[in-house]
Amino acid sequence: MIQHCPTPTELDDLELLVSGAYAPLTRFNEPGSAVTLALPDGVEEAELVDPEGLPLARVSADGTLEPLTHAQYGPFRRLHLTPVQAREQHAGATWVPVVDALTEAELAELRDLGRVVLVALMGTGTSALSPTALVRASLAAADLLDDARVVAVPLPSHGDADVDHELGAQVVATYAGPDPVHALADPSPLVEEGAQRPSRDLYPAAIAAIVEEDRPEPEEQGLVLFFTGLSGSGKSTLARALMDLLLEQGGRSVTSLDGDVVRRHLSAGLTFSKADRETNIRRIGWVAAEIARHGGVAVCSPIAPFAETREQVQEMVEAAGGAFFLVHVATPLEECERRDRKGLYAKARAGEIPEFTGISSPYEVPEEPAVRVDTTGRTIEDALGDVLAALDEAGYLHLKDRT
Ligand code: ADX
Repeated sequence: MIQHCPTPTELDDLELLVSGAYAPLTRFNEPGSAVTLALPDGVEEAELVDPEGLPLARVSADGTLEPLTHAQYGPFRRLHLTPVQAREQHAGATWVPVVDALTEAELAELRDLGRVVLVALMGTGTSALSPTALVRASLAAADLLDDARVVAVPLPSHGDADVDHELGAQVVATYAGPDPVHALADPSPLVEEGAQRPSRDLYPAAIAAIVEEDRPEPEEQGLVLFFTGLSGSGKSTLARALMDLLLEQGGRSVTSLDGDVVRRHLSAGLTFSKADRETNIRRIGWVAAEIARHGGVAVCSPIAPFAETREQVQEMVEAAGGAFFLVHVATPLEECERRDRKGLYAKARAGEIPEFTGISSPYEVPEEPAVRVDTTGRTIEDALGDVLAALDEAGYLHLKDRT
C-alpha cells in the first residue's frame, strides 16, 4: 500500500474524523460533505502519514478510515482533546467557539458565564492568526477570566464561509454535548479575505502582544520579492539593484536566491525539463518561506515559467507568515533575444539548447503580479522606480531611489 501525506487541511480533517469531532461523520468523501481527501491519480487505498512520515491511518476506496496512531506533531498537542476527553474534564461548563484573539469587550461578555471552555478552532485557514498564536491568545484570555480552560480543535477552513460556519457550529455542539454553547455577540468572521481586524488597542495588553508578534506590521513582516520573466529580461539586474538599496539602507536581513546562482548550489544537477524546473522553483520557495518565517527578506529571480508553481511558492510563503510580492519583468522576447547577453538565444535558435524558455519551452505570463515592468529602452534605476513605488504603496518597504 502506498504512503501518502495529505495536505494540511486534509490532515486537520483526518484528526477530527478519527477523534469523533465530526460525528456522525467518520469517513472522508461522504457524498455532499466538504470533508474530502484527494489521493494521487490511480490510487484507491493508502496509508496516510504525517509530514514526518509517521503512519496515522489507512484509508480505503470509499474514504473509510482505520486509525493507526494519534497525531503527535505540533505545539499545544496536550490541548487537542477528543470530544469524549474534553467532556470528561470539562462537563458542565459553557463552551465558547473562538476563531480570533478575544477583545476586552468579548472577555467582559464571558465573565458572567461562570466556568467556560474556550474552543480554539485553530485548523488551517480558519483564524486570521496562526494556529499556534490563536491557542496562545486563547490561553492568555483564559488567564484573564476567573475559571476558563482551552481546548484546541483543528477545524480547518473548507474555502466556503457557509460550510465553515455550519461545520464549526456542529463540531462545537459535539464538544458541548448537553452543556450550553455561547457564541460571542459579534464573532470575528472565519477569515474572509481582507476582513478588518479589530484595532489593537481593543485587546488587553497580554493579548495585543501575541497578536502583534504573530501579525507584524507590513514593514516588519517577512517578505519574498519574486522576480519572474524570460532569460535576459533584466530580472537579475533589477533584483541585484534592489538588494543593494536594501543593504545600503540597513535594518533588514536580505538573502538573494537568483536563478543562475541557485542552479549552481541548491539545485545543482537539475535540468530544464518541466518537472525539474518545478522542483527548482519549489526549492527556492521552500527556502524563501523559511527566510520569511524569520522576518527576513528573500529576493528571488528565477525564470519560474509556470503559474501553478509560482502559486505554490506564494502559498508556502503565506503559510510561513510572510508576504509574497510578485514582480513580472515583462521585457518582450524580441528585446531579450536582441540583447542576448549570454548568447543563449542564438544557441537555442540553432537547436543547440533544447527546451529554451520563450523559444521551445513555454512562459506563462502572470495574470496579476503586484507590479509589471518592461525594461525595454529604460535604465535600471528608472525601471526599479516602478518596483519601489509599488512596494512603498503596499507598505512593505520604503526605499529611496539613489537618483
Ligand atoms: S527556471 O525555469 O527553472 O526558473 P532558472 O531561472 O533556474 O530557470 O534558470 C534560468 C537560467 O538558466 C537562464 O538565465 C539561462 O542562463 C540558463 N539556461 C540554460 N538553459 C536554459 C533553458 N533551456 N531555458 C531557460 N534558461 C536556460
